[in-house]
Amino acid sequence: MVNLNRLLGCVVWPVAITTAHYAESAPKPTATSTYGRPYSEVSSLLPPLRTTTWGSFEPGTTATPSKRADDNDPFGEAQWTSSWLAADLLNYTTVGIYTTTVAATPVPSSELVFPPALPFAEKDCYNFPEGFMFGIATSASQQEGAIALEGRTPTISETIMKGGGVSGATNYVANEHYYLYKQDIERMAAIGAEYFSFSISWARILPFIFPDTPVNQEAVDHYDDVINTVLNAGLKPMVTLIHFDTPYAFVRDSVDLDFQIGGWRGGYDNVTFPDAYLHYAKLVMSLYGDRVSHWITFNEPMAHTNNAEGVRNVITCHADIWHWYHETYEGKGMVGMKQFDYFSAPLDPSNASHVQTANDFNDFWTGTIYRPLCLGEDYPSIYKTSIANATAFTEEELSYIGGSIDFIGLDMYGGTIALPQPGNFTPSPSLKCISMSGTCFGVDLVDVTNAGWTVGFGNTSGGNTYSTGFFQFGFSNPGDSEKDLDDARLDVASSLFITNVLTELLESIWEDGCNIIGAFVWTLTDDWEFGTYEGRYGLQTVNRTTQERSYKRSFFDYVDFVKSRLPNH
Ligand SMILES: *[C@@H]1O[C@H](CO)[C@@H](O)[C@H](O)[C@H]1NC(C)=O
Ligand SMILES: *[C@@H]1O[C@H](CO)[C@@H](O)[C@H](O)[C@H]1NC(C)=O
Ligand SMILES: *[C@@H]1O[C@H](CO)[C@@H](O)[C@H](O)[C@H]1NC(C)=O
Ligand SMILES: *[C@@H]1O[C@H](CO)[C@@H](O)[C@H](O)[C@H]1NC(C)=O
Ligand SMILES: *[C@@H]1O[C@H](CO)[C@@H](O)[C@H](O)[C@H]1NC(C)=O
Ligand SMILES: *[C@@H]1O[C@H](CO)[C@@H](O)[C@H](O)[C@H]1NC(C)=O
Repeated sequence: MVNLNRLLGCVVWPVAITTAHYAESAPKPTATSTYGRPYSEVSSLLPPLRTTTWGSFEPGTTATPSKRADDNDPFGEAQWTSSWLAADLLNYTTVGIYTTTVAATPVPSSELVFPPALPFAEKDCYNFPEGFMFGIATSASQQEGAIALEGRTPTISETIMKGGGVSGATNYVANEHYYLYKQDIERMAAIGAEYFSFSISWARILPFIFPDTPVNQEAVDHYDDVINTVLNAGLKPMVTLIHFDTPYAFVRDSVDLDFQIGGWRGGYDNVTFPDAYLHYAKLVMSLYGDRVSHWITFNEPMAHTNNAEGVRNVITCHADIWHWYHETYEGKGMVGMKQFDYFSAPLDPSNASHVQTANDFNDFWTGTIYRPLCLGEDYPSIYKTSIANATAFTEEELSYIGGSIDFIGLDMYGGTIALPQPGNFTPSPSLKCISMSGTCFGVDLVDVTNAGWTVGFGNTSGGNTYSTGFFQFGFSNPGDSEKDLDDARLDVASSLFITNVLTELLESIWEDGCNIIGAFVWTLTDDWEFGTYEGRYGLQTVNRTTQERSYKRSFFDYVDFVKSRLPNH
């Protein structure tokens, strides 16, 4: 397409050297619409539920549950404690600073001083379309801490660390966002972010996970206040229902089972998973659906869906909850999903087998779930020929599943270059395929987030195949953890990554006609990246001793880039 938008844009709006900056506090509160009926009106859609509270797990507890007073209550304190004893965490200690919610204080103006302009800033002339959403993404297990406090039970995110990662006491503390959320939200609002995408912890809401078990009142109140605080601060919430934190109950006996696809065992293949997930999802949507416009059912499910049964459950659970949300709850918001996208381009775009390999890679990792959900098509053939038990969907199933998604998320943390390898496509037993260190799936992989080069073109599918979507992306600054605070805040590489990705998004909107509805940066603060704090994806640093947050320059550059290109500017 002729680059008319850019030409016109430049003529009408010449890029001027300007001192205007847009990283400024959001107007409060957000003018909200209602996306569904309040809980009081829809609780009858759920089975009768009782609420209760539990305590906190004390490190070093060894007393058998039978010593506890409510031994015979299947959902009592004793059984709750035994869930932590069963998870048997390595070196568990609470050691966080906070044990109660901390009130917010205004961000001092001295922290909001804009950094000097980068000399090589983007010079494009496109604006984002009307209604473009931009925000910041996080997840419960990577931010909250307080893992065994106020009723929460274990999840896979603690237990995966037992076999790998860098495990140790402070690993479980994360950023204590469970108690510091008010200040974290205040800091986002002060700089002018628009959406806060976070996840709710199933193991907090329903410590005993399954239908017919009590609801944790403290968790219900907590997330209620998180959402109200977001809205009162002038932000909007986007909520993910499950983000790498499947309750541990679903994997407790799974250690030796066959493992074919993702990197971690997500428990989605457990036959008890679908009913329990639907109950949890309905409960959370009923509780908060009046105030939440965008729901994400699963975060990157292919990363921890270990077999065909898990993949099928993810798809049908998503379709079931989409139908329930729109048809029974009559929600007016949107229900989508996020998937990682290490988009593959052919090494040699003129070589048909390179192109085929790239298409297969993309179809396997993205199409396996999005083709059925978005297009009502069966699984891609590369998936059906690679994975045991990947039985085709029936026409009837496809007509129910197809179109049961309102938007898709593509999480882009790197790119891959496809070059066919000798031998058959064989699924990798580990996540080497997307950790980009090997040659599995017949693809040579280059890690753009570390040292390599990316190839951003080729005759691959992708692009507009699945229609409405948003991008989530992030950049980890190598070696940040060894830096002084001032150095860590000067994260120029992150600023360049963010503004380059946003520039590409603008071009794909205006030059390729892609329907991109938003952009989300991963993540709010340097966080707990599965056993370590070394993956410095944050728009802010965190002092591990004091939990103090400091803005990095990329936060200012991100907000400024987007806000200077919104239609009303
Ligand atoms: C866990 O604690 C043990 C005993 O204190 C210690 O030897 C070990 O190094 C700790 N493990 C980690 C990974 O910190
Ligand atoms: C599946 O979930 C059930 C219910 O929590 C659990 O008892 C069982 O151990 C799980 N199966 C595996 C293989 O982990
Ligand atoms: C790639 O696309 C171009 C333009 O559509 C086309 O001319 C070329 O033949 C394609 N190459 C392959 C290997 O399909
Ligand atoms: C295409 O790539 C494959 C694998 O790298 C190679 O064996 C083959 O010779 C190439 N074909 C052409 C026409 O270049
Ligand atoms: C395939 O399904 C069969 C029958 O349900 C089951 O026994 C087997 O474990 C499954 N294989 C894999 C790799 O999931
Ligand atoms: C973290 O805070 C402590 C206590 O105020 C301070 O001594 C330390 O220098 C801080 N660390 C960094 C990296 O700024």
